[in-house]
Amino acid sequence: MTLIVTLFFTIFPILFFLFLRKRERSLTRLPPGSLGIPFIGQSFSLLRAMKVNKAEKWLDQRVEKYGPISKLSLFGSPTVFINGPVANKFIFTADSTMISNQQTASLRMILGDRILHELSGDDHKRVRSALMLFLKPESLKQYIGKMDNEFRNHLQMHWEGKDQVTVLPLMKMLTFNIICSLLFGLERGLEKEKLVNLFQEMINGMWSIPVNLPFTRYNRSLRASTQVKNLVRKLVCQKRLELALNGAPSNQDLITSLLSVRDENNKEAISENEIVHNVMLIMVAGYDTSSIVITFIMRLMASNNTVYKAILQEQEAVRMNKSLEEVLSWDDLAKMKHTWRVALEIMRTIPPIIGGFRKALKDMEYGGYLIPKGWQIFWATHRTHMDNNIFEEPTKFEPSRFENQSSIPPYCYIPFGGGARICPGYEFARIEILVAIHYLVTRYAWELCSTDNSYRRDPMPMPAQGLPVKLIPKKVL
Ligand code: HEM
Ligand SMILES: *[C@@H]1O[C@H](CO)[C@@H](O)[C@H](O)[C@H]1NC(C)=O
Ligand SMILES: *[C@@H]1O[C@H](CO)[C@@H](O)[C@H](O)[C@H]1NC(C)=O
Ligand SMILES: *[C@@H]1O[C@H](CO)[C@@H](O)[C@H](O)[C@H]1NC(C)=O
Ligand SMILES: *[C@@H]1O[C@H](CO)[C@@H](O)[C@H](O)[C@H]1NC(C)=O
Repeated sequence: MTLIVTLFFTIFPILFFLFLRKRERSLTRLPPGSLGIPFIGQSFSLLRAMKVNKAEKWLDQRVEKYGPISKLSLFGSPTVFINGPVANKFIFTADSTMISNQQTASLRMILGDRILHELSGDDHKRVRSALMLFLKPESLKQYIGKMDNEFRNHLQMHWEGKDQVTVLPLMKMLTFNIICSLLFGLERGLEKEKLVNLFQEMINGMWSIPVNLPFTRYNRSLRASTQVKNLVRKLVCQKRLELALNGAPSNQDLITSLLSVRDENNKEAISENEIVHNVMLIMVAGYDTSSIVITFIMRLMASNNTVYKAILQEQEAVRMNKSLEEVLSWDDLAKMKHTWRVALEIMRTIPPIIGGFRKALKDMEYGGYLIPKGWQIFWATHRTHMDNNIFEEPTKFEPSRFENQSSIPPYCYIPFGGGARICPGYEFARIEILVAIHYLVTRYAWELCSTDNSYRRDPMPMPAQGLPVKLIPKKVL
C-alpha cells in the first residue's frame, strides 16, 4: 500500500510532466487551460459541481475563462474540451483511425475491455450490428407486449393502494425488470434481487477516479462487477446449451440473439467476452437513462398543467379504443406524438448523459490548436442544447420545437450522440418511456410532495429526494 501511494505521488507526476514538456515543444500550440494537480486534475472539481447541479455552470465558466477550446485533466488523462455543432460533427464523424471512442478508465475496467465503446473499425461494426439485430424497431415491435405486461405488474405491486411513492427508484426498478426480462429472459426471483443490488454498487463507481484502494468507490464497484460478470457468464452458458438443444426460439432474448450470429464457418461470430461485456453495457445504458427521462416527465406534468393536459388528452384517446386487458401496439405508440415531443424537450433541457469521451489516436489540429496523440477529447451536450442560435429562447420549455424535426440542423440535438456511435437504444428507450407514461397518466394523478425543484448529477441527473409524489388514483374504466 505504501508502495502504491509513493507511486502516485512521485512517479506519476514526473512521467506526466515529462510527457507534457515533450508536447509543448511541438509546433502547434496546446489549447489554453491548466491541467491542474497531476493525475487528479479537475476530476473532483467537476464531480463536486455535478453533485450540486452546477456541472453546466462549471462548463460555462470554463468557456468564459478559456474560450471554446481548452485543456484540462479528467479521470486520470489529459483532456481537451470542445463543444458546439462544429465540434460535435468533428467528433462524431471522425475517421476511426484518428479518433477512437474512450470511456473513462473506470468504465472500461468495470464493464470490460470488449464493450462497444472500446471497439473501433470492423470490430465495432461487427458487434454493433449484432446488437442492432435485437435493438432495431422491427425486432422491438414484438416486445411491446412484454414491456406492457412488466409495466402493469409493476403498478400492481408497487403503486396500487399507496398514498405516496418515490418515483425514481421505482422507475429504475421497472426498467431493470424490463431489461432482465428482455435481455436474459430472467424473470422475477431471488437471483434478480441479488443482481439489482450488485448492479447499483457497480454503477456507483463508473465515473469515479480509478484509484484501486480498499475504501474507494471504484474498488467496491470492481468487486460488484466481477460478481455480475460471473452471473452473466453463467446465463450465457445456459442459453448456449438451450440453443444447441432447441434451436433459436422465435422470441429470443438478447443473449440468445448474440449467440446466434455466425461467421462464414458457422462459428459464433461474437466472442464470449464480447457478449458478457456488451450485455453489461446494455444493462447500464438501458437502466439508468430511460428511468430518468420518465421521472423528469412525471415531475414536469405535476408542475406544468399545459403539458399535463396535452399528454393526458393524447393518452386517453389511445386508451379509449382499447379494452382494459388489451396491450399497447406499435400503432398506438405512433399516435403518442406529443408525449414523445415532451420527452425530446426534457432530454434537451436535462440531458441524461452530460457528455462523453474520445481519444486522439494521432496528433491533430482543431480550431487552430493541437490535440496531442493519446489525449482525451471531452464533448458535452449542454452547451449545444442551450445555444440560442440553434434553439430560440433555449431556457424555455417548448415541446413544439420538435414538431418539424428536420428544422433542427444536424449535430445540434445530441442527447443520443451522433454519427457511427449514435445511441443504438433510441427506439428501446422510446418504447419504454411511452408505455410508462401511458399507464401513469391514465391510471393516476399526482402531486409533488416537495417544493424543492432542484436536481443533482451523480453523474445522471436525479430530482431532489428521488421525486416523492402523493398519488390520486383514477377510476379505471
Ligand atoms: C433516454 C435514453 C438514452 C439516452 C439519452 C442515451 C444516450 C446515449 C449516448 C449519449 C451515447 C453515447 C454516444 C457517443 O459516445 O457518441 C449512447 C451510447 C450507447 N447507448 Fe444509449 N441512451 C439511452 C438509452 C439507451 C438504451 C435503452 C440502450 C439499450 C437498450 C442504450 C444503449 C447504448 C449503447 C450500446 C451505446 C454505445 C454505442 C456505440 O458505442 O456504438 N442506450 N447512448
Ligand atoms: C480492492 O483493493 C484491495 C486492496 O488494495 C485489493 O487487494 C483488491 O484486489 C481490490 N479489489 C479489486 C476488485 O480490484
Ligand atoms: C409549460 O409548458 C408550456 C409548453 O407546453 C410552455 O409554453 C410554458 O412556458 C410552460 N410553463 C412553465 C411555467 O414553464
Ligand atoms: C379510435 O377509433 C375511432 C373509430 O374507429 C377512430 O376514428 C379514432 O381515430 C381512434 N382513435 C385513436 C386514438 O386510436
Ligand atoms: C421543416 O423544416 C424544414 C427545414 O427548415 C423545411 O424545409 C420544411 O418545409 C419544414 N416542414 C414543415 C412541414 O414545416
